[in-house]
Amino acid sequence: MSTLLRIDSSLFSANGQSSRLASDFVAAWQQRFPDGRVLHRDLAAEPVPHLGAVQFQAFITPPEQRDAAQREAAAVSDALIDELRTADVLVIGLPMYNFGVPSTLKAWFDHIARAGVTFKYTEKGAVGLLTGKKAYVFAARGGLYAGTPADTQTAYVRDFLRFLGIADVEFVFAEGLAMGESPRDTALAGARERIGELADEAVA
Ligand SMILES: Cc1cc2nc3c(=O)[nH]c(=O)nc-3n(C[C@H](O)[C@H](O)[C@H](O)COP(=O)(O)O)c2cc1C
Repeated sequence: MSTLLRIDSSLFSANGQSSRLASDFVAAWQQRFPDGRVLHRDLAAEPVPHLGAVQFQAFITPPEQRDAAQREAAAVSDALIDELRTADVLVIGLPMYNFGVPSTLKAWFDHIARAGVTFKYTEKGAVGLLTGKKAYVFAARGGLYAGTPADTQTAYVRDFLRFLGIADVEFVFAEGLAMGESPRDTALAGARERIGELADEAVA
């Protein structure tokens, strides 16, 4: 049985355009994998704490030496990593906010990047330990950025996931959503068409 983990990071939770695209993909995936299991995390409804001093000290302190606050902090990260480990497919709803990724998603990233747990350092550099997964990223933007240097998200998210061992990543863009009704509708229709193709490719 395949497991899909969906991470939404829109401020509008399920009503965000990125969340709606992620939801459409999950529905299409479930039609093709009726026995598949879906896990869902809404980072706007349930934000992960920022990576602060307590969190990072917890990560680098051996479990038996952690104090109570560090144990609590490490437990949050451990749970997020366990959830991600169980997933064969990762789906991320990715809005663009103020030229970057939502801070809630960055906080989630900060909790799943753990040396010795999700990646390790070797003589040849860092090696990701979360291999064997496929990721789909649904990017919603008010303006137009894809393929330009102003797209601060795509390379960053791709590089970050690859760093953890998730190298197979598909991006679907819905851009120009704040540029009027017609461009918005065209962008969303294009993204939905691509979603159908990707769901078909997932079973091929
Ligand atoms: C706080 C905020 C900041 C935004 N910043 C940008 C931006 O820097 N560039 C852009 O193209 N659109 C920006 N937008 C528009 C969003 O990218 C657009 O509304 C998109 O649909 C957000 O995804 P969501 O609907 O899933 O939340 C911003 C929207 C909000 C609410």
